[in-house]
This record gives sequence, C-alpha cells and structure tokens, in this order.
Amino acid sequence: MATKKFAGPSPYKLRQTYPEDDYLHTEYVNNSTANQASRSQAPPVVGAIFGLGRAGSIHLSSIVNNPRIILKYIVDDRKDRFADLKKFWRLSSDVIFITPAEANRVYTDKSVNVVFIASPTWTHHDIVVNSIANNKDVYCEKPIAENIEDTKKCYEAAKAKGRTLFAAFNRRFDPAYSNLKERVRKGEVGHVQILKVTARDSPLPTIDYLKTSGGVFHDCLVHDFDMSCWVLGELPIRVQASASALIPEVKAIDDFDTIAFLLTFPSGAVVLGDNSRYSAYGYDQRLEVFGNKGMIKVENERPCHSTETVIGQEGIKLSPIFYSFPSRYKVAYQRELEHFLDVVQHGIPMSVTSWQTLAVSKIATAAEESARTGKTIDIDWSKDDIPAVYS
Ligand SMILES: NC(=O)c1ccc[n+]([C@@H]2O[C@H](COP(=O)([O-])OP(=O)(O)OC[C@H]3O[C@@H](n4cnc5c(N)ncnc54)[C@H](O)[C@@H]3O)[C@@H](O)[C@H]2O)c1
Repeated sequence: MATKKFAGPSPYKLRQTYPEDDYLHTEYVNNSTANQASRSQAPPVVGAIFGLGRAGSIHLSSIVNNPRIILKYIVDDRKDRFADLKKFWRLSSDVIFITPAEANRVYTDKSVNVVFIASPTWTHHDIVVNSIANNKDVYCEKPIAENIEDTKKCYEAAKAKGRTLFAAFNRRFDPAYSNLKERVRKGEVGHVQILKVTARDSPLPTIDYLKTSGGVFHDCLVHDFDMSCWVLGELPIRVQASASALIPEVKAIDDFDTIAFLLTFPSGAVVLGDNSRYSAYGYDQRLEVFGNKGMIKVENERPCHSTETVIGQEGIKLSPIFYSFPSRYKVAYQRELEHFLDVVQHGIPMSVTSWQTLAVSKIATAAEESARTGKTIDIDWSKDDIPAVYS
C-alpha cells in the first residue's frame, strides 16, 4: 500500500504524449492521419541514376520506393546486369537502361531534372559538369571530385547555372548523430572540450575499389572530418595524423588502412579520431562529445535490439553490431534523399554547403600530408571565403 498514493488519475484522463525523438512514431502518425502538411505536394522530379554498385543500389532502393521521383534512366557499364535489375526491382519499360557511352541521352533529355551519381569517384566530375550544364540538379556521392580544384569547378558550374549540387554526407542524416548534434548545439554538454569519433569499415572493400577510391583520407575520413566540423560548428586550425598500411595489398597501392588523427579547433576543442579499413567484428561507428557540463555519445547500433543478451557459462553475449554501411545507415540514406528533394522542390537551405564540402576536402588533404610527412599542418582559412556562422 505504500505506493498507492502515487497512483494519480486514470491514464484515460491524461493527455497522451510521446517523445519527439521517436521519429518513426511521427511518421506513423502522419501516415495514419493522412497529414497532408507532412507530405510534399510538388510534382515528382524526373531522375537518372549513374552507377548501381554498393552505393547505387542503396539509392535505387530509396528512389523506387519514393513517390516524389519518377526514375527514367539507369546508367551503368555492367550491361549484363540490366535484365536482372529490371526484373528484381519490377521496373516498368519507362525506365531506360543505358551505358556511360550513351550518357548524352540523359544530359539532353529535357524532362530529366535531377541526376543521382553513385558511380566511381573518378567519374563524378564529368557527370556533375555535364548534368549541370544541362540544367539538372545533382545529388552526388562523396567526394564530389577527386581533388579540390575539380570540386571547386563543379560548385562554380552549379552556382553559375543556379542549380543544386548536393554532396551526400549521409552521416549528418542519421537520427542518432543529428540528435547528438542538436543537443550539443543547445549546450547540453556545455563548452565542448573533446570529440571522439571511431569509424572502422566492414567488410573490407575490394582492392579494385580502393585503387580508384581517391585514398582513405578522401574516401573514408572525409565523413569523420565533416561530422566533427558539423557538430562543433567550426573548422580546425591544426591537423595531425598518423597512418599505417598493415594489410600488404593496401600497402602495395600506397594507401593506408589504419589511421589516427587529431584536429584542433579555434574554440580549444580537440577532435580525436581513429579509422580503419577493416573491422573484423562489424561496422564500428561511434561518436562521443565531452564538455564542461557533461558527455553525450552515440554507440553502435544492432539489428536485433530486443534480443540483446545470451547468458551462458562463458559470460554474456550481445547480438552483433550492424555488419556494414547499407544497414547501419539505411534510415540516414532515406532521410538524405528526402532532404535533397526538399531542397530542389521547395528551396529549403541545403544542409551540406559548397564551402563545407571544400573545407572537408582541404582538411583531408592536410591530414594526408601530415600522415605522409610526419608534420603538423596548420590550416589558414583566411582566403577561403568561409561564412562566419557554420550551419
Ligand atoms: N556515402 C556512403 O556511405 C558511400 C558508401 C559507398 C560508396 N560511396 C561512394 O559512392 C561511389 C561509388 O562507390 P561504390 O562503392 O558504390 O562503387 P562500386 O564499384 O560498388 O559501384 C560503382 C558502379 O558504377 C558503375 N560504373 C562505372 N563507371 C561508370 C560510369 N562512367 N557511369 C555510370 N556507372 C559507372 C560500375 O559498373 C558499378 O556498378 C564512390 O564515389 C564512393 O565514394 C559512398
């Protein structure tokens, strides 16, 4: 009886609320109430996608399930896969499969207004430039191009034509990371002193992929650099990195598989990162922010949250973490696509701006230089036309 006094009124007499963080419940409420305001009323865009490998198949799955897009072209050099893809995704005969040699059909087709690029990094620059020259908005997998000069040219072309060029930094759209960012920005951990980011890839990418990836700093660590700056709302003034190639095949192509880095920011915040091309136990993605008022962190996610433990004589087993990026960031990829469509259809401000992408490219170049020379690299942003406020 000691607690009966706390019973209060019947729950039927109370207003039912749910936590804002439950984004899936919000989606359900919008769907079940046919909340028109939650849906775009804009006519669908007509799109083409370049590249249907690892990243491309993730985007294709979001595109074919999204009523805001009519897919018109699929461009890939693996002609042998076309029939299977058409059958698997139940694509109508309105979807046209072509090879890169026929890409001009996409550029000159005036009905196409958006282009999705998920082909190898070395192909991005030309596809971006040709698409923008023909008045298409572009969603491009990171990195936009192989080097800063080409990336700048792409953004200049987009600016000149008034087109959107979106760099797909998917981690920004992950519910856990974006929630962490909002809470850091609201001051929940106070003045940030240390941000720690761990990103260990799984499975090991093929050597063919690594050869054309642009190197681990521009291929993988760009995500860590982008996320650090995005959470902290500032750019680093000092970069230090140490890197090894412990896998012989990675060493043979003069790349690295094991990297540690330090970024120092004008506020005094320090970022510590560790990154690996191969994590034997799954796709290890963690983030921690420590400030003078507290600490907040995002731990690894698991496919089976509800069956977490098996207890035996050998101890307690947790279910495995997600194996790779398509599963860990599935929701992030979908939200990223919605954001791009909101930008092109409704003109909302783009989350990943040109100067942020260029800044990340500059940090990646500095980090690689530090790893290769053993030097600390100071970064001067004074000539980079960086706005005072980081979004
Ligand atoms: N943001 C992310 O999470 C993420 C994850 C993986 C890859 N990526 C990026 O996506 C891009 C593709 O990487 P991937 O791992 O999917 O590579 P992949 O090798 O798995 O796939 C590339 C596909 O593009 C096709 N292709 C080759 N040349 C082409 C061309 N000129 N036009 C059209 N298609 C062409 C290939 O046949 C292949 O099907 C890279 O830029 C990479 O950095 C991003």
